[in-house]
Amino acid sequence: MKQSKNNMVGKWVRGLLLTLSLFNPFTFLPLTAQVYLDESKSLEQRAEDALQRMTLDEKIAIIHAQSKFSAPGVKRLGIPDMWTDDGPHGVRPDVLWDEWEQAGQTNDSCVAFPALTCLAATWNPQMARIYGESLGEEALYRGKAMILGPGVNINRTPLNGRNFEYMGEDPWLASRMVVPYVQGLQSKGVAACVKHYALNNDEEYRHQVNVIVSDRALREIYLPAFEAAVREGGAWAIMGAYNLYKNQHDCHNSILLNQILKQEWGFDGVVVSDWGGTHDMDEAVRNGLDMEFGTWTDGLTMGATNAYDNYYLAEAYKKAIQEGRYTTKELDEKVRRVLRLHFRTTMNRQRPYGFLCSESHYEAARKIAGEGIVLLKNEQHVLPIQQNAKVLVVGENAIKMMTVGGGSSSLKVQREVLPLDGLLSQLCSLEGSGGGSYARGYVGDTVQSYNGVTVGRSIAESRTPAELRAEAVEKAKQADVVIVFGGLNKADYQDCEGHDRQQYELPYEQNELIEALVKVNKNIVFVNISGNAVAMPWIDKVPAVVQGWFLGSESGNALADVLTGRVNPSGKLPFTWFRQLSDVPAHSLGAYPGTWREGHDVIDEEYKEDIFVGYRWADLSAKQKKELMNAHHSPLTTHPSPLFPFGYGLSYTSFKLGKVTSSTQQLTPNSPITFTVEVTNDGKVAGAETVQLYVGPAKVSASRPVKELKAFQKVWLEPGETKTVTLTVNRESLSVWDEAASKWTVIPGSYRAYIGTSSKTNISHKFELL
Ligand code: BGC
Repeated sequence: MKQSKNNMVGKWVRGLLLTLSLFNPFTFLPLTAQVYLDESKSLEQRAEDALQRMTLDEKIAIIHAQSKFSAPGVKRLGIPDMWTDDGPHGVRPDVLWDEWEQAGQTNDSCVAFPALTCLAATWNPQMARIYGESLGEEALYRGKAMILGPGVNINRTPLNGRNFEYMGEDPWLASRMVVPYVQGLQSKGVAACVKHYALNNDEEYRHQVNVIVSDRALREIYLPAFEAAVREGGAWAIMGAYNLYKNQHDCHNSILLNQILKQEWGFDGVVVSDWGGTHDMDEAVRNGLDMEFGTWTDGLTMGATNAYDNYYLAEAYKKAIQEGRYTTKELDEKVRRVLRLHFRTTMNRQRPYGFLCSESHYEAARKIAGEGIVLLKNEQHVLPIQQNAKVLVVGENAIKMMTVGGGSSSLKVQREVLPLDGLLSQLCSLEGSGGGSYARGYVGDTVQSYNGVTVGRSIAESRTPAELRAEAVEKAKQADVVIVFGGLNKADYQDCEGHDRQQYELPYEQNELIEALVKVNKNIVFVNISGNAVAMPWIDKVPAVVQGWFLGSESGNALADVLTGRVNPSGKLPFTWFRQLSDVPAHSLGAYPGTWREGHDVIDEEYKEDIFVGYRWADLSAKQKKELMNAHHSPLTTHPSPLFPFGYGLSYTSFKLGKVTSSTQQLTPNSPITFTVEVTNDGKVAGAETVQLYVGPAKVSASRPVKELKAFQKVWLEPGETKTVTLTVNRESLSVWDEAASKWTVIPGSYRAYIGTSSKTNISHKFELL
């Protein structure tokens, strides 16, 4: 009897335990159905289900890194590890688990796509879509669930070492281009991690800069592209920037993350810290950071084995929860976001297969590059180069690989066609002259390696600058055309992460080289390889100038396509090309790089130019500029017009715009206004033109830009062909940020729409905004 009673109790206890095991230990909900694995269920249901199955340790584990580029999943639940990688122009080669050195994989040589300044210069959202899709396929092959890009920080100064990774100076252009990039990438089940949010507009002292900016400039200039990426593009992740805003680091900045990104924009994805951008546990817990990466980025400061446990969101946070300093409210919110990211990427069974270095990726890279190259000047039809012309190629950038270097966007490529090789393959006359048709001209940076990725071919050079110039000049005397490939490169203090450029002028005595060449040959073509504008004091003496960006794997082919006329250039500048640094608003006003705060390791950088960035500044009258400069005690007095305006770029054909008509004279809340204009290719070859629409108040005042880009469209036309372009503006897109009310508002009144093929246009059309 006793025994049977014991048996019964045992049975009862076993039954109870069994039943309990089917329930979540914290919530006592039944856990039999694995909802989190069921793709027919909503993301929220799946996240809640997974969350309830997870222990505290598991939750803590998935919100911080376990290696340089990964965070653990939950093996017990079949949630895989999360691997991420740079970004934004190709998938970065793998580094060792806890070191920056190369892992030495044989499957991580990728296709490098053109840097994002070039993508923006295509002014073609379709190119951004193809870019995102192709990159997504490469990422999938490489097992990366999230790409650390694209970057959409506004080009505020041409000294910023990372402008090449971004999409120019205009919030509208950057917004239109970032959305399809994000959508294309994510259509492959790979998350975009849009960076660097926010106000990371220069590199110098990037960890110490505290940006002081008006709410209006923040909203109207610096945030719109991020907002578009989140709201329209549906980005699944965003990366906090290194700098501070309102004295709080961006990676745990309550205004930027909690208030604006999550509350206002409804972002449901993951906020990832920039590598080493987390500085404070309490702020990281409360202010919206979801995943911590790269803290103590040498990986060793806290000891090789426990560095990751010592992250702000690791053991210390767990202990604080156990001690009751926090509930799991914040933690669960972070985990939910990370889980969503998993369901969208690593656990997404609908993901397609990946491809590495596929021909379609090379085609995409070449096409984007071809559409982004900008023809800045072409007098006497020096370009395109005729097949029988005797061509001399000069310059280090004709033979230098640009996919290696520049910081975290550095790549290891399967191939990179150099400009000289591209031209050799397309110009028979060049090939025939057997090496005699190239002269080095100058020496810049011969290092050619980054983080252990080394370019096979040496470009070491021992001759002096004078000797190199003399050789180039001698050869130039014999040539019909001289193509100089110069500009910047990806070395420190050039177009490179970590520092800014130290000068606006071309480095390495390139100006001396050009001045020497123009004396002996009238047909000089300067191809500027860079992500930034440079000073061109010799511009009046050089008949042809091409902006060649950093074009990635197909660089040489794409440049040769344009120089020989196989591709008719159609790129347009995504930034204003100022003549000299002192013409750039941030520099005119002495608002760069800021002022060190006494007794603190903080440099305050006040964006004194406010909303007047790039063409918004160039458009101001001399009087308005002077007033602003006086207000900021700037000693400068000159106000020359830019060398090349925003939105500018030539073609080998010419276009004519017809009369502009509008659908209505009044823009009301319910009906947008559409402008129609005919574009005719009245030249001899097929080509593309981008029609741009800017809007500004009819009565110009100091408080608003004269005009701002609000719509654009690129059209392809055969010779003699005419197409009708329609550009639509809705009322909301003309809102301004009302600082007092802290909201967007539309100011009714008379407005002018300016239509043209660059920001310098006189065609305007008046309408009323009701
Ligand atoms: C850069 C990020 C990059 C990260 C990881 C940081 O230094 O600022 O853009 O994604 O490193 O490489």
